[in-house]
Amino acid sequence: MQIDAVAQGSEARRDTLRRAFRGSGNTFPIVARESPAEDAPLLGYAILEYSFFDNGFMPLVYVAPEYRRCGVARQLIAFLENLCQRPKLFSSTNLSNAPMHALFARLGYSACGMVTALDEADPEVFYVKRVKP
Ligand SMILES: CC(C)(COP(=O)(O)OP(=O)(O)OC[C@H]1O[C@@H](n2cnc3c(N)ncnc32)[C@H](O)[C@@H]1OP(=O)(O)O)[C@@H](O)C(=O)NCCC(=O)NCCS
Repeated sequence: MQIDAVAQGSEARRDTLRRAFRGSGNTFPIVARESPAEDAPLLGYAILEYSFFDNGFMPLVYVAPEYRRCGVARQLIAFLENLCQRPKLFSSTNLSNAPMHALFARLGYSACGMVTALDEADPEVFYVKRVKP
């Protein structure tokens, strides 16, 4: 929440993060820090769940603005791809989110569908990558 500008203005996002980071059997949140020290600055976070028709799903990936384009998201996602216990890992982003589309393309994800009913002004584009044989 410290680094996520959306969380600072959205109770719904704060609630999502509280639930994810509280931990449950099926939600795996990770954070990246500048160094292994517990009080080292936070660089970003990502979350893995198995909520999407029993497949891997990354509902959120977020990198603090001052640490973007340094490979933090690439490393967070690579860690979750490794952790994912299902063959397919899905994720999604708004159609307008050019950095996230570029990131998915760079990491070998394929666009696999679009849902227009979530945010009618900015549809949600889904991506998938096969992470296990
Ligand atoms: C999208 C986001 C997660 C990318 O994080 P990041 O740590 O900056 O990404 P990386 O440095 O790992 O980028 C890896 C590759 O993705 C692509 N990429 C990432 N950001 C990009 C941008 N702004 N423009 C173009 N390509 C981009 C590039 O190919 C990049 O490789 P390169 O830097 O060698 O060219 C970050 O911008 C962010 O947190 N945005 C706000 C939150 C958000 O929109 N999350 C997604 C929806 S949940």
